[in-house]
Amino acid sequence: MTDVLDIKDLIVEYKTRRGVARAVDRVSLKLPENRTLGLAGESGCGKSTLGRSIMKLVPYPGKIISGEIVLNIDHDQRWKDGVIPKGNVNIMEMNDEQMRALRGSEIAYIFQDPMTSLNPMATIGNHFVQIQKAHDPEATEEEAIERAMEVLKSLGIKGERINDYPHQFSGGMRQRVMIGLALVMRPRLLISDEPTTSLDVIVEAQILEEIQELKEEFNLTMILITHNLGVLAQTADDIAIMYAGQMVETNTTEVLFESPQHPYTQALLQSVPDVTRPDKKLTWIGGAPPDLIDPPQGCMYHPRCEQATEICKVKEPHLIESNTGGYVACHMYGRR
Ligand SMILES: Nc1ncnc2c1ncn2[C@@H]1O[C@H](COP(=O)(O)OP(=O)(O)OP(=O)(O)O)[C@@H](O)[C@H]1O
Ligand SMILES: [Mg+2]
Repeated sequence: MTDVLDIKDLIVEYKTRRGVARAVDRVSLKLPENRTLGLAGESGCGKSTLGRSIMKLVPYPGKIISGEIVLNIDHDQRWKDGVIPKGNVNIMEMNDEQMRALRGSEIAYIFQDPMTSLNPMATIGNHFVQIQKAHDPEATEEEAIERAMEVLKSLGIKGERINDYPHQFSGGMRQRVMIGLALVMRPRLLISDEPTTSLDVIVEAQILEEIQELKEEFNLTMILITHNLGVLAQTADDIAIMYAGQMVETNTTEVLFESPQHPYTQALLQSVPDVTRPDKKLTWIGGAPPDLIDPPQGCMYHPRCEQATEICKVKEPHLIESNTGGYVACHMYGRR
């Protein structure tokens, strides 16, 4: 099975006046074709920074320091001075023009803030035409509109609405338009990023479910970023849990929910309500995530961890293969 994405030892930092915050700390992950990876963890743990690194769009003052990001693309991509041949592409070696050719056509990112991402002065159709012409200057307006109508139809939006302006759509429909714009170039990898200040949870769940339905039609490999683990239970094949810039546990969704190994994953799951178990006791994780500019020694999670021992305060744990088929970074794993 082809890995659409292969990240090794990625480090991303933000240089601020107070010091350097390492938002992504030696993260490695592989994403096989047609799978959906859910990326979860508390606000500020580095999910968006990791997602944006794949697009090479880490906002200032952030910078990719080191590591590898390899993307497998399934079509030759034309850029200003040549062609990026299909196959494995080393994102770190791509220049801005090359990245522009890959964004949209191979990697698409849904920033789920449709209010600010759509141009109020342009019709929905204009948005679709612009994106397609940027990637394929020879595409005619008629072809572009035709493709747009097809994509909108898959999203449950009638073709005749193509001449409407963004303000004529409801919030949920604007989000669908955003998804349509992400999909119209048929990207290989779709990254959907939910901001913490999301709409309500119901809309978020609905939209993710729809993306899931489009997965086969568009042959997508996906990364879903959310702080809502409940949503991932239904949509992700695999889950990676991040804490303070690091990957602390990964496994298939089923196993991760069934037998979480890292104390942080266990605590996160304790805070997710479960409609099938109304008697479940919900608890919140005490304390706050660490200041990434001045992180604790040893395990990043030890100040909040109920299972921490002396070694956790001084030695950093690394990811090891767990006997449940995943990976976990915890000194106490296997010793409890
Ligand atoms: N513009 C910035 N300037 C300085 N530091 C930043 C900036 N953006 C992010 N950071 C740092 O990077 C860390 C990770 O931020 P990131 O936005 O990737 O987290 P996140 O997991 O996506 O959070 P959320 O769930 O709130 O979206 C933050 O805790 C912060 O320390
Ligand atoms: Mg984020």
